[in-house]
Amino acid sequence: MEIKINRVDPQKLKTKPSDESQIGFGDLLTDHMFLWDYESGKGWINPRIEPYGPLKIDPAAMALHYGQEIFEGLKAYRGKDGIYLFRAKDNVMRMNSSARRLCMPELNEEKTLDALKTLILLDKDWIPRSRGTSLYIRPTMLATEPHLGVRPAKAYLFFIIIGPVGAYYKEGLNPVKIYVEDEYVRAARGGTGEIKTAGNYAASLLAAEKAKEKGFTQVLWLDAVERKYVEEVGTMNMFFVMDDEVITAPLNGSILPGITRDSVLQIVRRWGLKVSECALSIDEVIEGLESGRLKESFGTGTAAVISPVGQITYKGRDHVVAGGKMGELSQRLYDEIVSIQYGDRPDPYGWVQRID
Ligand SMILES: Cc1ncc(COP(=O)(O)O)c(C=O)c1O
Repeated sequence: MEIKINRVDPQKLKTKPSDESQIGFGDLLTDHMFLWDYESGKGWINPRIEPYGPLKIDPAAMALHYGQEIFEGLKAYRGKDGIYLFRAKDNVMRMNSSARRLCMPELNEEKTLDALKTLILLDKDWIPRSRGTSLYIRPTMLATEPHLGVRPAKAYLFFIIIGPVGAYYKEGLNPVKIYVEDEYVRAARGGTGEIKTAGNYAASLLAAEKAKEKGFTQVLWLDAVERKYVEEVGTMNMFFVMDDEVITAPLNGSILPGITRDSVLQIVRRWGLKVSECALSIDEVIEGLESGRLKESFGTGTAAVISPVGQITYKGRDHVVAGGKMGELSQRLYDEIVSIQYGDRPDPYGWVQRID
């Protein structure tokens, strides 16, 4: 695919952060962005890279009214000897499954990966060097057709923006406190919980804000029908180690099929541990904590990789998990995945791709 590149005027290049320890998440974006238009009957046209800047969107653009918007989140890492992309193909495939669910056009996998790499290499000086930092990649698609009737749009924009992000854990892997949400729900089976669309996140904000006011890091969502089975946490999938079994919720339609979740499942299977993707009730979790059968719990996601849980609060009672410390398996998994992401350990799974 030929991508037209319009470089930013060298006089207008942004200033890169001088202190990598101060980089947070989501505020810094690089000098360029990738754009691609879609028109019904023509397909994807005009792939281009332009200086990063505001988009011009019609106020009647259908995404703004009916929410045809999908996105992805993935990272590139600067390892000792090159730049590595982690499981990018899986993110493009997940974006296509989001597109199908919202009647949006699918992307050509190869061309999308090509666009992604071209943009990253153009702005590669933005990729931070210190361990734990990375380049966050945000591919997004939205309906741009100006029209106020409810139906799938006929025109879309796909764009990719990228920016450096800091080490998620500045002072080591701190266990998080989570609040079991039994009033609000995030998503129901048959809805859109299993895709990455903006509305899911909007729907989660109120519960998350209330939990934060009470001093919790995130909410643990229960299933929407019975408010009984544990689903996921904020922007992470959840794992529980019960006796010697690693348990996570099945992909039954209401939770996001996390790529880190899948990485953890592949690793623990390879390590020969007992694994189950099965419904686990919050009562079983609490009983496990009280009896000592539940050894540790952690969230998985692109941002933090592994986020150990130190406390679970349900119906007003606090329960300490793994003595409030990072569990043994959480640490082992974190080390394994991060070493693969930075190209330090061999990658027997075929997850990383060196792009420079
Ligand atoms: C709702 C939700 N669940 C789980 C995850 C974890 O997915 P991944 O491991 O692909 O980052 C994310 C983050 O993308 C998310 O937003």
